[in-house]
Amino acid sequence: MGVTRGPETAPQVRYAPRPMDLQTLSPADFSGLLTREGVRRFYLVWDPDAERVLASHPLLDPLARLFAEDRRDFDRHEGVFVQVAPDTGVLQGVFLHRTCRGQGAGGVRFWGYGTIEEYLRDGLRLAKGMTLKNALAGLWWGGGKGVIARGTGRSEEPAARRRIYEEYGALLTSLRGCYVTAEDVGTAVEDMAAVFSQTRFTTCIPPALGGSGNPSVPTARGVVRGMEAALAHLGKGGLAGKTVAVQGLGHVGEALIGFLRERGVAQVVGTDVDPGRCATLRDRFPEGGGFTFEARPAARGDHSILAEPADVVAPCATGGILSPETIPTIQAPIVCGAANNQLLDPERDDLLLASRGILYLPDFLVNRMGIVHCADEQYGSLTPDPRLEAHLGDAWENSIYNLSLSVLAEAQRTGEPPARVALRRAEERSFELHPLWGHRGAAILRSLVADGWSSSG
Ligand code: NAI
Repeated sequence: MGVTRGPETAPQVRYAPRPMDLQTLSPADFSGLLTREGVRRFYLVWDPDAERVLASHPLLDPLARLFAEDRRDFDRHEGVFVQVAPDTGVLQGVFLHRTCRGQGAGGVRFWGYGTIEEYLRDGLRLAKGMTLKNALAGLWWGGGKGVIARGTGRSEEPAARRRIYEEYGALLTSLRGCYVTAEDVGTAVEDMAAVFSQTRFTTCIPPALGGSGNPSVPTARGVVRGMEAALAHLGKGGLAGKTVAVQGLGHVGEALIGFLRERGVAQVVGTDVDPGRCATLRDRFPEGGGFTFEARPAARGDHSILAEPADVVAPCATGGILSPETIPTIQAPIVCGAANNQLLDPERDDLLLASRGILYLPDFLVNRMGIVHCADEQYGSLTPDPRLEAHLGDAWENSIYNLSLSVLAEAQRTGEPPARVALRRAEERSFELHPLWGHRGAAILRSLVADGWSSSG
């Protein structure tokens, strides 16, 4: 069934920007424009029958065109829903990629962007990444992501920050469950409690409220299993005695270093743009027992850690860092880390890595444990949880270790980069329909449009 613009279509537009203007606006200027034009909510949805992107308001048609003409980040995403939060004025969005397997699920990022195009592209890329990750992990969830634009609206002092996340929760309630959120970069467990106060459609809430809390520790464990599969595939044994370079000493980076030390890694070299994190982790991981740790503060844009002479490089900071600029500098035979969307251009950069003989395990294959950790919250918790352990062990064929080995073996057989093999498998699985609910997310999306979501609330 196609999608038609709902009854809320703005009858008259006082300001008609040229197509290029809108996307180059800063998120703050963009939300200012929306507010002046009386647009509190808008959507951009894919109409599968007409094969086009439909904007809720003519004002947003240039963004619909931007999506329609894009070949890199827009992949017939089912819908993007954005609001200028009524109280805080912060720009908040939900990006749904594909919901065949179930509700779009993925964390909400709180981040600053230079332009609204950068904001939208990040949401599109991240949502697609979640489709792939959830499908490969065998979760009955589709792909979605939330992005809150930092620097728009009111200040981020604690009380205002709580309100920002409460308003985000209210946005999810208005979307009737086609998206379920979780934690992501810039968002903390306390923020999830604020989201949870306004909606049931969230996971990763604090343990004190019955949730599973911070998913970074299991995420790091999963990344370790990916590294072990890559080393085994190359016949290099285990992690004991190896050197690992880690970009980003945040939640995942910290947990990762702890697990690497447990595995007998000889040396970890890490960087962070925050010198405070470097100092904290230096204290946390003193030299001893055959283990050394070096933490170096790095300027934003300094990716020299990727060029470290190491056995494994683990990007655990931001995405887009594997590019024609950085790939030629990499000396390690393996790249395996938690950061989402590490390839700047997925069509080009996995080939570039393969041409240099670098084995790259894609993020969506090895960083699944964050979302896996959150996925079963509503079914109660066990310690240890056999469902979590299955992903991290060697017994299940779809565990991170076994799936990585199988992807690497197929890549060797076919001569394709492993990321491409993993992508193909993930794409195939992402179209499987939820065994009970079918493609319900798309039905919810159509109902939102038909019921005039963008003029309600
Ligand atoms: P975080 O925000 O706690 O840590 C990221 C760290 O990277 C921060 O300390 C930041 O200062 C640092 N950083 C930013 N840019 C940098 C640069 N250019 N060079 C060096 N350091 C830099 O985030 P978290 O939770 O540790 O996540 C790390 C990555 O893993 C993110 O890309 C996230 O999307 C991804 N991820 C995280 C999951 C989780 O469970 N936390 C699950 C799946 C993916």
